[in-house]
Amino acid sequence: MIPLPLARIAEITSGALTGMADPRAVVRGPVVIDSRAAVPGSLFVAFKGERADGHDFAAQAVEAGAVAVLAERPVEVPAVIVGDTQAALAALATAVCAELPDSTVIGVTGSAGKTTTKDLLARLTSRIGPTIAPAGSFNNEIGHPLTVLKADETTRYQVLELSARNVGHIAHLARIAPPKIGVVLNVGTAHIGVFGGKEAIARAKGELVEALPADGVAVLNADDPLVAAMAERTSARVTWYGRAATATVRAEDVTVDDRGRASFTLRTPSGAAPVSLRLYGEHAVENALAAAAAAYELGLPVTTIAEELSEAEPRSRWRMEVTDRADGVTVINDAYNANPDSMRAAFGALDALAGTRRRFAVIASLKELGEESDALNEGVGRLAGSAGLTGLFVVGEDAGPILAGARAAGAVPDGLRDAAAGTETVSPAEPPDTAAPPGGPRTVVTHVPDVAAAVAALEAVLKPGDVLLVKGPRVAGLERVAEALLGGDGR
Ligand SMILES: Nc1ncnc2c1ncn2[C@@H]1O[C@H](COP(=O)(O)OP(=O)(O)OP(=O)(O)O)[C@@H](O)[C@H]1O
Ligand SMILES: [Mg+2]
Repeated sequence: MIPLPLARIAEITSGALTGMADPRAVVRGPVVIDSRAAVPGSLFVAFKGERADGHDFAAQAVEAGAVAVLAERPVEVPAVIVGDTQAALAALATAVCAELPDSTVIGVTGSAGKTTTKDLLARLTSRIGPTIAPAGSFNNEIGHPLTVLKADETTRYQVLELSARNVGHIAHLARIAPPKIGVVLNVGTAHIGVFGGKEAIARAKGELVEALPADGVAVLNADDPLVAAMAERTSARVTWYGRAATATVRAEDVTVDDRGRASFTLRTPSGAAPVSLRLYGEHAVENALAAAAAAYELGLPVTTIAEELSEAEPRSRWRMEVTDRADGVTVINDAYNANPDSMRAAFGALDALAGTRRRFAVIASLKELGEESDALNEGVGRLAGSAGLTGLFVVGEDAGPILAGARAAGAVPDGLRDAAAGTETVSPAEPPDTAAPPGGPRTVVTHVPDVAAAVAALEAVLKPGDVLLVKGPRVAGLERVAEALLGGDGR
């Protein structure tokens, strides 16, 4: 963070100094919201959460070295008192960003792939200048300004992940750190329940390109019609990426190896170079192209882009982590989160990776899908039921629509094993309404109440050489299944 005296912080946030705060005391960062992360020079921001109130930890933060606390009420230690700490944090980040004209802000949004793309792009910009990017998915009203506040005079690139849970959110985040380059990946069905439809999601994501200046660049996915339509909504220049022959930055001759990793020729107007991704799943091509297009706009040579993309390992946890157990079982841990689109991508990756090996999947009901929830979850069940699985395990109480979809696709419930393992199941008497896929055994679908039951059931069936996909929404915590099976303490 750029050093700021408390008097200036009070001015920016329209706050008042209390607790004998020295107006000349200088905050050098980091700005933290967890008192345990406070170090000398920090500013501790007190948030009142549902369970804990940050104000109760003010003294602890100052003891650890925090110069002061940004708070909504006096806390007996030096503090800047404001009406609303979240608004004050945003104001502070806005002011700091405005004082860094030499730092280029690149915003990444979309329904799926933001973190992956952000990580790839930050890797690319790091080749040409000091870069800050959020850790993981720190992309909301709090994480976004905290990331921006890490920037200082040396920062050349800020690669930010912008997420929207409603119309207006991205416009708000873009006001804090005005982007010069805006990357829009795709418009899918994540959070469709809160938005109320794909059009509303497109409207929200498009706020990123509306925020771009005339001398900025909108990096848009030529293969996604709802993203392509955003070209109308920006005064910035548009650079297209994708598989389409019309895309400025595109992938040609895409192949996928037996581990599900894609290789392709990266083509740009200034040349082409071969890329072999270490990231799993063919959808990584789309994310790599988006990062490549933004980097191309920043002047990186295509050979450097291709080299870096080929060296990038997955950086953020539980996204397509592929691990081989000593006994030859391969676990694909994609449990970070799930929506209908990423579910499809994950099953695609399983298909590519498994080949002729026995396939298993453990999944859970998707959330935040609103009125269409049952239909979309049934679709997930159909997808899983027709994915050539030997066994499908559905975790949680709300598994009904997935189970129905899986049955409709030909999967059969596992009455016998469920009884033995003490887990619930759908009625074995109910016949599936379609035939099993030709040439293979039917998928056996088991409903398990929780993670521990899923682990127990899987341990009973997995054999050397099997491949297991673990994929569910964040709240299901299915990464614990993967960790337990890989010898961790997830149980
Ligand atoms: N381009 C893509 N199309 C479809 N699915 C994708 C794509 N990129 C990533 N995914 C899948 O989406 C999930 C989340 O990926 P990632 O974390 O990169 O996305 P995100 O947009 O940052 O998600 P979040 O909104 O949870 O922060 C993973 O399961 C990943 O495999
Ligand atoms: Mg993310």
